[in-house]
Amino acid sequence: MADADLDWVVNAEATLHFMPWTRQNFVDAFAAGYSAWVWVNEGTPAGYAVMFVVLDEAHLLDFSVLPSFQGQGLGRTMMQHLWQVCREQGALQMFLEVRPSNKAALALYRRMGFAEIGRRKQYYPAPEGREDALVMKAPL
Ligand SMILES: CC(C)(COP(=O)(O)OP(=O)(O)OC[C@H]1O[C@@H](n2cnc3c(N)ncnc32)[C@H](O)[C@@H]1OP(=O)(O)O)[C@@H](O)C(=O)NCCC(=O)NCCS
Repeated sequence: MADADLDWVVNAEATLHFMPWTRQNFVDAFAAGYSAWVWVNEGTPAGYAVMFVVLDEAHLLDFSVLPSFQGQGLGRTMMQHLWQVCREQGALQMFLEVRPSNKAALALYRRMGFAEIGRRKQYYPAPEGREDALVMKAPL
């Protein structure tokens, strides 16, 4: 992901997430040296992800497939690519947080071997009040 991607990434982010990252959040992620990726299908942006690796831990911060590409295996392909990058950097496990109401993401993560290791109570702002975050971990 580069500065030139941010117009479409920020636009997609706003339609895909209840609490979307802002352009500044992505700029800050670049500045922090996070690993940020876009997947392009025949010239059309299809998905993006942001993560960081510290020592043997990878943390997935943002992971999205654009609606017209969902349900076609791209999420799985993206995750496999990220895991390869993580392994090359010495990571042994990946952590992420997800809303319990996000059934598609939960199904993908569980199918890929993520297990729930904790729950942050009332972590996310939600359409009605707040929502917990499930903390999940997968071996790489
Ligand atoms: C979650 C998300 C990344 C999944 O991406 P995707 O490309 O549609 O997922 P895939 O097609 O690779 O599916 C992989 C597996 O995930 C599961 N899955 C994906 N979408 C699902 C859905 N809507 N319902 C049930 N299971 C689903 C399936 O088990 C699937 O494997 P299978 O087809 O062999 O059964 C995508 O829906 C998305 O970007 N959602 C909006 C943003 C978001 O919520 N991001 C995650 C924030 S934590």
